[in-house]
Amino acid sequence: MQDTVIPVPEDWARRAYVDDAAYQQMYRRSVDDPEGFWAEHGKRIDWIRPYSRVKNTSYDPHDVSIKWFEDGTLNVAANCIDRHLEERGDQVAIIWEGDDPADDAKITYRELHEKVCRFANVLKKLGAKKGDRITIYMPMIPEAAYAMLACARIGAIHSVVFGGFSPDSLAGRIQGCDSNIVITADEGLRGGRKVPLKANTDEALKKCPTVKNVVVVRRTGGDIGWEEGRDVWLHDEMQAVSADCPPEEMNAEDPLFILYTSGSTGQPKGVLHTSGGYLVYASMTHHYVFDYHDGDVYWCTADVGWVTGHSYIVYGPLANGATTLMFEGVPNYPTAARFWEVCDKHKVNIFYTAPTAIRALMGAGDDLVKKTDRSSLRLLGSVGEPINPEAWMWYYNVVGDGRCPIVDTWWQTETGGILITPLPGATGLKPGSATRPFFGIQPALMDGEGNELTGAASGNLVITDSWPGQMRTVYGDHERFVQTYFSTYKGMYFTGDGCRRDEDGYYWITGRVDDVINVSGHRMGTAEVESSLVAHPKVSEAAVVGYPHDIKGQGIYAYVTLMSGETPSEDLRKELVAWVRKDIGPIASPDLIQWAPGLPKTRSGKIMRRILRKIAEDEFSNLGDTSTLADPAVVDDLIDNRQNRA
Ligand code: WTA
Repeated sequence: MQDTVIPVPEDWARRAYVDDAAYQQMYRRSVDDPEGFWAEHGKRIDWIRPYSRVKNTSYDPHDVSIKWFEDGTLNVAANCIDRHLEERGDQVAIIWEGDDPADDAKITYRELHEKVCRFANVLKKLGAKKGDRITIYMPMIPEAAYAMLACARIGAIHSVVFGGFSPDSLAGRIQGCDSNIVITADEGLRGGRKVPLKANTDEALKKCPTVKNVVVVRRTGGDIGWEEGRDVWLHDEMQAVSADCPPEEMNAEDPLFILYTSGSTGQPKGVLHTSGGYLVYASMTHHYVFDYHDGDVYWCTADVGWVTGHSYIVYGPLANGATTLMFEGVPNYPTAARFWEVCDKHKVNIFYTAPTAIRALMGAGDDLVKKTDRSSLRLLGSVGEPINPEAWMWYYNVVGDGRCPIVDTWWQTETGGILITPLPGATGLKPGSATRPFFGIQPALMDGEGNELTGAASGNLVITDSWPGQMRTVYGDHERFVQTYFSTYKGMYFTGDGCRRDEDGYYWITGRVDDVINVSGHRMGTAEVESSLVAHPKVSEAAVVGYPHDIKGQGIYAYVTLMSGETPSEDLRKELVAWVRKDIGPIASPDLIQWAPGLPKTRSGKIMRRILRKIAEDEFSNLGDTSTLADPAVVDDLIDNRQNRA
């Protein structure tokens, strides 16, 4: 199946912005003359003061520094809203589809302008100013986008925290960037269930004394706690301020947002993106990868709590004057036909989702898809994890009726936008391959010894030169930025992903090669889950690895050693799952827990994760060299009691 090539449909080659010849030519220029290429494409957004300097970047591990368009000034919110008003003030900017199919709304660019200006004035009235960090902990409602854009308008840096995270995780992220304002809602609504966002915020804020104000959006009207003087209702405040708020003039390299993401060690890091380069890259990739044309209805099903929601629900589409659909609910509520019903209801042309959703919906059967029309669909997209060829074929044949190209887009929180992807009018598709680099992206494959591999090969994926959407630093910890991304292969950005390049130069991402696991497209650091488990009073040691999971892509497999005197039990297993769930959030819940009397360690005490991964994968016949283990017998016990059996 991997050799199947689905050629570019003729009508696509004709109508798309770029066909294969144009791709080849533009790509060549983008790497031969990055200055010239980006000087030209940087103009796709509006600058207050035009840039004269385009690229000023260094991957030298002694001095990693990334600057794009550095002497230009702009305002990101004005680019996403104001500049469209004249031509498309009455065009719908955001279609909102509620959790309940009876709930929806359409917001025009003019309405968006008013909401964002008022919201920005509310923040100003609370004392927010340029450079302040503001945490956003919201459900998928238009106010989440207003909040982000309001921050951008006044030059405050937003940090969106996914609504599924626990109070502790929220507290850590608020403290991590010293926010003094939090924006939340009374409750969220997902799949008919309420999510206690305000209550979680109250809980988190017990640990965050520096937070002065909480702006609360009324979503459900449910009962919530209230701290007079600290908490304010958004709808009250919006009435009390002016609808006029001039956008702040920002430097291209002024921060736009921080987004916490999991790494292979320690606690999540604050990925910092800046204004000019990020917006150029998000808007340009949205334009070419989705081949967005005026009037198209575009739907990305991600949550704004993740980078996909930032770049491809809010910033990219709005910078392009697009109509972007924002969905509050989940794929299987009220039924597993919801996605396709929403496509019909709003005549969606471009649909972008994650493999985990595709696999789950595939499991629900074809009938639910086939009873819907979907004739508005023209292009499908995939993001977040490798898509297995079976799911790809189902998406293509059943959802897309064999008519719609699929863009399998590989990228990361760190990259700001899509780096490896087909372009629908240019790239023949191979199910399971993210295919070729976007303009300006130079991927390379490295072996474990630091040698670059040429031709068809498998190795670790690096990017050898900068692009405008790249993260600039880890907030407050530049050294960690350098260590994490630029020290493994000197002078290159290390992605943490493994990858194969085939004879046609197509890239096939094989998954993380570090201690990050990808659960339903959500990144989780094994170290975070381990530190949560060992914080439980009955747990002495824990090691967490990923294992293949039919729906989630990877599941969380935890080896747990109990304190002496404690006995394993089903109740304790449930207690530990609930513990992690409460501590980090539902996405971190271990799927399988194995009681381990001991963990395989080297004589110097280092846990041999390679062995634990193999056992969790049920692939223990070839464990490799175990002779360096301090006590080889523990391995036999682990194999005998493994939890994931075919
Ligand atoms: C994985 C999400 C294969 C990869 C945008 C990457 C993918 C991590 C793909 C980043 C894809 C994302 N094919 N793997 N199309 N897209 N990944 O930061 O392992 O949440 O490193 O960004 O997801 O996850 P993140």
